[in-house]
Amino acid sequence: MQSVESSAEVLQRKLQLGDLSPRGQRVLVRADLNVPVQDGRVVDDTRIRASLPTLRALLEDDASLVVMSHRGRPKGERDPALSMGPVAAALQHLLGRPVRLLPDCIGGEVEERAAELLPGEVALLENLRFHAGEKANDPEFAASLARLAPLYVDDAFGAAHRAHASIVGVPTAIGTAAAGALLQLEVSMLDRVLSDPSTPFVLVLGGAKVSDKLAILENLLPLVDRLIVGGAMSNALLAAQGADVGGSWVEDGSLELAARVLAASAEKDVEVLLPEDFVIAPAMDRPDEAREVSRVPADAMALDIGPVTRQRFAAALTDAKTVLWNGPMGVFEISAFSEGTRAVGEAIAALGPQALTVLGGGDTAAAAAAEGISDQVSHVSTGGGASLDLLSGRLLPGVAALTDRKPQDV
Ligand code: 3PG
Repeated sequence: MQSVESSAEVLQRKLQLGDLSPRGQRVLVRADLNVPVQDGRVVDDTRIRASLPTLRALLEDDASLVVMSHRGRPKGERDPALSMGPVAAALQHLLGRPVRLLPDCIGGEVEERAAELLPGEVALLENLRFHAGEKANDPEFAASLARLAPLYVDDAFGAAHRAHASIVGVPTAIGTAAAGALLQLEVSMLDRVLSDPSTPFVLVLGGAKVSDKLAILENLLPLVDRLIVGGAMSNALLAAQGADVGGSWVEDGSLELAARVLAASAEKDVEVLLPEDFVIAPAMDRPDEAREVSRVPADAMALDIGPVTRQRFAAALTDAKTVLWNGPMGVFEISAFSEGTRAVGEAIAALGPQALTVLGGGDTAAAAAAEGISDQVSHVSTGGGASLDLLSGRLLPGVAALTDRKPQDV
């Protein structure tokens, strides 16, 4: 469901970080520190780095910080493999000051340790999702978190689409809840794509499923000049056009959705570019057998776009003034199937600052980082589902829950 007011419009009348007077106060900061960890170490600290401006601004104001986040999906039970321990170590390193990991996120001991924090000190709560009350937005759980500080800042853009306790219950319970710098940046950058984009506006979609991208397509098609589709998602559109996609994977029940997308694009005069050649293999785990074809046989599947398509997609991007890219063109994590994603990423990066170029979704962000183009585009979102929801026109619960500015704050 689309909201009448956009997240950006609603955010404008909410308290912002700069409206708070945190000097000498304790601030509860909700960040999205849900980062990948291997062998006890954080392997991609992008989200932690993105949280630093807000944390630093508060520390410069001599606040003490109680930082909280979820990590993974532990289903309401303590799971040592999903502890915030590795995140505490990475955050301490990046902040350049001690970060104390507390043994839990609620309870008497946590409240005492939070109360002992001096200005400039930082504590990180243990994984919020070790308690079922987080996902259930349980009022008692939210009240226990709210006891930890008199001020709340939400900087967790990546989790802003979740109506969980730390995102919606706590700000309501605390009563003074402001948007952090990352939340503000993300909402304003993604909103620039939605509100009056410069043309040609090219929407590039990939990834596995049409159903994941249907809402975004329905919201953006009226604004878009050209739609480029790659990845497994394009199999459904090709099949809906009557093409033979051989043994390629097509999402169950997606043909009808794909036909709807094609009809809406035709009606709105949107030029649709689909793959015309492919990199195929018998299976994803058989990259040694990868080859380029213009027709996918029954015993193989398309795992990347082919060289002709790469060129066509890149050419269709050269005059773009606004680009939104969500979803890779193939299984880019495997080098035999990564060329299409690289070609599209390079074509977008080559547009430079003359175009607004925004990348959303976890896989797209990872692909951009792998290709080294993250700092050559206007914005790489730290949100997956949150960026999809915002671009689909939905009001993010994390934005709606913040405190309205009073006239004297504005
Ligand atoms: C994400 O990784 O997209 C966010 O941290 C939200 O995580 P979730 O999908 O497990 O709620």
